Amino acid sequence: MIENSKVKKILYGGDYNPEQWPEDIWKEDMRMFRLAKIDIVTLNVFNWAMLQPEENTYNFEKLDKIMNMVRGNGLKVCMATSTAAHPAWMARKYPEILRTEHSGIRRKFGSRHNSCPNSSVYRRYSAALAEGLADRYKSYDNIVAWHVSNEYGGECYCENCEKAFRKWLEEKYVTIEELNKVWNTAFWGHTLYSFEDVVVPNMQSEEFLWDTIRTNFQGISLDYRRFMSDSMLSCFCLEYKALKKHMPDTPVTTNLMGLYKPLDYQKWAEYMDFVSWDNYPSYDTPFSENAMKHDLMRGLKQGKPFALMEQTPGVSNWQTYCTLKRPGVMRLLSYQAVAHGSDTVMFFQMRRSIGACEKYHSAVIDHAGHENTRIFREVAKLGEELEKIGGEILGARAASRAALVIDWDNWWAAEYSAGPTRLIDYKKEIFCYYKAFAENNISVDIIGVKDDLSAYKLVAAPLLYMCKSGFDEKVRSYVADGGCFLTTYFSGYVEEHDLVVTGGYPGKLRDILGIWVEESDAVPEGKQNSFTYKGEVYPATVLCDLLHLEGAQEISSYRSDFYAGMPVLTCNNYKKGRAYYVATRSSDKFYRNLVGDICEKEGIAPLLETPEEVEVSRRENANTIFLFLLNHGEKEAKVPVNRVGIDLLTGKKYDAGDMITLLPKDVAILKQIK
Ligand code: GLA
Ligand code: ZN
Repeated sequence: MIENSKVKKILYGGDYNPEQWPEDIWKEDMRMFRLAKIDIVTLNVFNWAMLQPEENTYNFEKLDKIMNMVRGNGLKVCMATSTAAHPAWMARKYPEILRTEHSGIRRKFGSRHNSCPNSSVYRRYSAALAEGLADRYKSYDNIVAWHVSNEYGGECYCENCEKAFRKWLEEKYVTIEELNKVWNTAFWGHTLYSFEDVVVPNMQSEEFLWDTIRTNFQGISLDYRRFMSDSMLSCFCLEYKALKKHMPDTPVTTNLMGLYKPLDYQKWAEYMDFVSWDNYPSYDTPFSENAMKHDLMRGLKQGKPFALMEQTPGVSNWQTYCTLKRPGVMRLLSYQAVAHGSDTVMFFQMRRSIGACEKYHSAVIDHAGHENTRIFREVAKLGEELEKIGGEILGARAASRAALVIDWDNWWAAEYSAGPTRLIDYKKEIFCYYKAFAENNISVDIIGVKDDLSAYKLVAAPLLYMCKSGFDEKVRSYVADGGCFLTTYFSGYVEEHDLVVTGGYPGKLRDILGIWVEESDAVPEGKQNSFTYKGEVYPATVLCDLLHLEGAQEISSYRSDFYAGMPVLTCNNYKKGRAYYVATRSSDKFYRNLVGDICEKEGIAPLLETPEEVEVSRRENANTIFLFLLNHGEKEAKVPVNRVGIDLLTGKKYDAGDMITLLPKDVAILKQIK
């Protein structure tokens, strides 16, 4: 449904589970979908029990009926494979498909996302089901995408996984000597004599519960994270291949979950035809946090548009407070997704269920069963607007000049680290910088360490604890050629196996940054050091590096403690470029000012000047700019327009210098010719 010639507009719809309802309701669904201008449904997400009621029996009868009905009603289909929850008979007959928890307890039948990714039975039957579905429905040209499984995630520590882990390690490290080296097993006499000695790192072995799950051997735990992510990815790939056998031209995806730590989405995206994801902010999630997740999803495929696969039209049952989305907020968040690169707006779900844990989760059609609800009216109104907008925006890109680096291995490693402080929080650190870009109205791409840096004037890689082989070289030549790099405390310590790079921190980044970090002082919660930047005093918290200049210039220094006067903020002129180092965690205001100043110096201009609560985001194609203005505030806002354009939503024309008035939660999409 992304980059698919059958798609001519922003698709609008969502998860639809008619098999959970009597058939007389279906007709009513079709009527209401028409009213709301729904044009796509995601079908078949949790139907394995229905499709394969016994080991050797498949039954597609009901799904045939559903498929014929939706096709007859002109709906496109995002077709799921139903493999995110196995049928009861499979658990009864093959208990090996059940997952084993971190505690070592084997689960019984129940829940979902419940299959061991290394069970050969699960792998065989899930691929067979995917293949059977593709074979059966290949002639349905209203299928615009395949949706494999659902929100892959969790973990397993069973014997299948243990065996597969040994194999994975043997393929990666070849000899046991190499494995002992990279895991540093001489520590505590943990030397392994053969791959058979490897056990999974859980509560029964290397891991333990302190404030959170901790590990004695970071290297082992880190490899297990990689292995688990790879294990699930290989399940995805098995289904992908099975689908392609019969429908080679239909794009395949699986719905991701934003900043989801257990799965290395940057690696996953290499195997997906397009990225899709489920966005469930809570009532108090800052709008820039949503924006960051959208940008991460866009970055997974180097800027290609993605699909918003799910969002709730109203409440999510599973949050602490099922706070209603205020009038206009569903529309605002839908356009925010589009503003950051989504080519769809989709919901979970179309009709609210009557039983089990999601019966109080909003849906397009409520328990009341008719169209006279606030939510349905808002959905229908947005449907009308999206129809009006049509396909103009599809495929348009962001064209950012600044990038923020996220790396899953680094995330895992930094947070497994025992020391220097429990306050190491990768997501938080990344968000500090993302928010600073957002508050300066600077468009930013979120990229991985494998991505090309040359398109950017500024690359920020906060808390880059693990600097994997090759990345330092990439940064070195990027800066040498005139690029600007920024990193922070707790960076460059280890290589990809979590082994320390000796010779002084920040390891291989040292010459680029022109500094040497000799020691780092953990600052307990509630305490702080401080420093001055452009005449204002800012806090220094979490960790304070004690560093020496080796060519860099000091911009600011600590104000107190025995390291008062030592540098806290530095910039190194390295060949044609510059490299900044922020030796501590500070406040939002500091980041906003610092990032704003660096961007100004590097010639990265804000997209537009807007009031604080008005977000601005831009997509563009060869000839056209789409400037999205999103008023997240509670008050009316006025925004000066920068060039001639027309608002796609109201049809109103604007000249450069005109003021556009946005009501609270309102949106404008200015179409401007380049
Ligand atoms: C996830 C799942 C859906 C549904 C929603 C509820 O996104 O993919 O099946 O459970 O959460 O918020
Ligand atoms: Zn397992």
